[in-house]
Amino acid sequence: MAILVTGGAGYIGSVTVERLEAAGESVVVLDALGRGHREAVTRETPFYKGQVGDRALIAKIVAEHKIESCVHFAALAYVGESVEQPEKYFENNVSQGIAFLGALLAAGVRRFVFSSTAATYGEPERVPIDEECRKWPKNPYGWSKLVIEQVLDSYDTAHGLKFASLRYFNAAGATERCGEHHDPETHLIPIVLAAAAGEKPDVPVFGGDYPTPDGTAIRDYVHVADLADAHIRALEHLRKGGSSEFMNLGTGDGYSVLEVIETARRVTGSEIRIRKEARRPGDPARLVADPAKARRVLGWTPKMSDLASIIGSAWDWKKRNPRGYFAS
Ligand SMILES: NC(=O)c1ccc[n+]([C@@H]2O[C@H](COP(=O)([O-])OP(=O)(O)OC[C@H]3O[C@@H](n4cnc5c(N)ncnc54)[C@H](O)[C@@H]3O)[C@@H](O)[C@H]2O)c1
Repeated sequence: MAILVTGGAGYIGSVTVERLEAAGESVVVLDALGRGHREAVTRETPFYKGQVGDRALIAKIVAEHKIESCVHFAALAYVGESVEQPEKYFENNVSQGIAFLGALLAAGVRRFVFSSTAATYGEPERVPIDEECRKWPKNPYGWSKLVIEQVLDSYDTAHGLKFASLRYFNAAGATERCGEHHDPETHLIPIVLAAAAGEKPDVPVFGGDYPTPDGTAIRDYVHVADLADAHIRALEHLRKGGSSEFMNLGTGDGYSVLEVIETARRVTGSEIRIRKEARRPGDPARLVADPAKARRVLGWTPKMSDLASIIGSAWDWKKRNPRGYFAS
């Protein structure tokens, strides 16, 4: 019996594969490699290069490896790109996601952990954000995730699919082996560390007039290894016959853009210059999770998610891998 991890060559997926294997699980990775890196997965892990929407391939993988559960990370995940090319997001994340679920159900797989996102809430009606808050995404990326959440809920009712839909806030940090290597990179911490390493002249800070203590936007950063741990707990929950759930994965603490930069200055010893820019449309002032439900249902509490540990681990990985997964 094995677990199918889609998007396992991507950032969060590769760390989860590493942690699942360390916990003694058999894992099979499926990734189209449009965005991920083959080097992020060891040669020992069975790996298939292909699309999640390829039903014949899914049927073959499930049969050959006796797949019993799936963790579905595979998705396109750039907010800006989704606004410019929504069709790409609805095709890849929604159409392929539905084909994928159909192929899994046809093959008898009924446990599913889904990478959802805080973007499903859009502009939050209250902060900290709990799972009952209104969900009204501000971009096609968020909608593509919310549609799949609805599909999962309907398939539970109709077909007994048991799922955990995990709404991540901001994934960050690295393990010894796996780190964040997106191209282009849009996440704050790797951009700040690129500036610390002298690869960029400065860090753009979008908006200095938010109603926050220092005027910059506040986000909830979770260490990627803590996220991986939550996936392992979610699988255990489903294996024990637990109910389908939507759960936030965040710390409940938020840090402003300037706090992130200040911590990175301390960790790296670099000056890190900033460049003040106007607010970006659709960027809320404060996005912080209420993580009580994940604590209650999964017994999950983040252990490595203080800002200095997150930035320290990402900086260590960057120093060891200055060109990311590209050979130095
Ligand atoms: N990084 C974050 O902070 C964050 C926050 C919230 C949610 N998420 C979600 O978590 C998941 C993982 O995020 P990430 O940062 O690791 O992204 P990533 O881009 O590093 O990884 C995604 C992987 O999925 C693969 N993929 C995409 N479409 C595919 C398809 N149709 N078939 C097969 N493989 C495909 C890509 O090649 C890539 O390796 C995504 O679903 C994303 O939406 C991420």
